[in-house]
Amino acid sequence: MAEIIVVTSGKGGVGKTTTSASLACGLARHGKRVAVIDFDVGLRNLDLIMGCERRVVYDFVNVIQGDASLKQALIKDKRFDNLFVLAASQTRDKDALTTEGVQKVLDDLAADGFDYIVCDSPAGIEKGAFLAMYFADQAVVVVNPEVSSVRDSDRILGLLASKTRRAEAGERVQEHLLLTRYSPARVETGEMLSIGDVEEVLGLKTIGVIPESGDVLNASNKGEPVILDMESLAGQAYDDAVARLMGEQRPMRFTQAEKKGFFSKLFGG
Ligand SMILES: Nc1ncnc2c1ncn2[C@@H]1O[C@H](COP(=O)(O)OP(=O)(O)OP(=O)(O)O)[C@@H](O)[C@H]1O
Ligand SMILES: [Mg+2]
Repeated sequence: MAEIIVVTSGKGGVGKTTTSASLACGLARHGKRVAVIDFDVGLRNLDLIMGCERRVVYDFVNVIQGDASLKQALIKDKRFDNLFVLAASQTRDKDALTTEGVQKVLDDLAADGFDYIVCDSPAGIEKGAFLAMYFADQAVVVVNPEVSSVRDSDRILGLLASKTRRAEAGERVQEHLLLTRYSPARVETGEMLSIGDVEEVLGLKTIGVIPESGDVLNASNKGEPVILDMESLAGQAYDDAVARLMGEQRPMRFTQAEKKGFFSKLFGG
């Protein structure tokens, strides 16, 4: 059975694609057979972050419209033999994705022995976002520690609980909170919401806290998902999140502000 995970948020630009790429790589690093799908029709981005943009010949919409087979469109990752990317189309036709078409692709991937299918949702609550979540078994809700992001995520939780296949069958999509761009120092000064604040408002359990880090941009410029950079704190935090997703217990790291030493306090460093 393939486990379908949607990475969603409501608000745009919070880190969904960054997260999708890292989760997919992390699961593949654990030996799982993984496909990661870009649902952002018109705005290809996942292929860039995964570093396979030059190898995109066919995309998700080509498969749905019958212009290419799934096998032709799946791009095998250069680092992991068991990781595949299905790129988004550049078409302007926002209706190119259909419920039946998406279902067929997901069913075919499951029949092909994939363990995990990671669906990178576009921003907002339009059709692409709806289709990205509709078939999900689990949802990773990506949130930045700020009020607007939390508010939009709350709306997405409402949709997960009503407009998904599981909800229609009287079941639940298993939801996880992934807080990203977290800065413990700014939480301490009150500029950002704390983990506890966000958990309380959304009523979710945290699967990972990813610190704000310049390594993320560096990683996407190189087409190397940040989880592969185990020197980076963001990479290590994503590695923890993947382990937790697979049922391992790991303590949260990088969530406390560094205590300033005597000298840096004295000199204001
Ligand atoms: N932990 C982090 N630290 C610093 N920057 C980050 C972090 N996570 C994501 N970013 C940056 O935030 C921006 C948005 O990230 P990303 O494209 O993953 O978001 P998204 O939610 O997929 O956006 P969209 O809604 O447009 O699809 C990027 O510039 C990315 O480098
Ligand atoms: Mg994105």
